[in-house]
Amino acid sequence: MEFAQEDRVLFEAAEAVRARAHAPYSGFAVGAAILADDGKVYAGCNVENAAYPQGNCAEASAIAAMVAGGARRIEKILVTGPGSVPVTPCGGCRQRIREFASDPTPIICLGVEGDPMFTTLGELLPHSFGPQFLER
Ligand code: THU
Repeated sequence: MEFAQEDRVLFEAAEAVRARAHAPYSGFAVGAAILADDGKVYAGCNVENAAYPQGNCAEASAIAAMVAGGARRIEKILVTGPGSVPVTPCGGCRQRIREFASDPTPIICLGVEGDPMFTTLGELLPHSFGPQFLER
């Protein structure tokens, strides 16, 4: 599978950080990379914890890096994990992405041994609740 240049940059950033995942309990290392509104790429991996519910998903780590870096919008996000089935963001992370993205925002899901799935936030989280609901 050949990615377009912009997607290749995200893939390489996500794979590089995936190698640093702390996933001793699941053995399922995930990497995520965000192209943000400042033109920069922010990446994160999953960070598990012996107290299992305290673990962080890769997407949450990438979003934290983006916010800490000063960016505020997700233009595109790529998620990569083991196997050949595309790794899709969990329900909670779909909502986390929603905070900084909108329905058309591209999401690329990849099992690193297979082909990517190109989807959007609106497809993964239809009829979503977001910041606009709190504007008055
Ligand atoms: N995980 C992610 O980091 N992102 C996803 O999109 C799916 C799941 C992590 C959470 C946990 O550390 C491991 O994968 C197994 O669920």
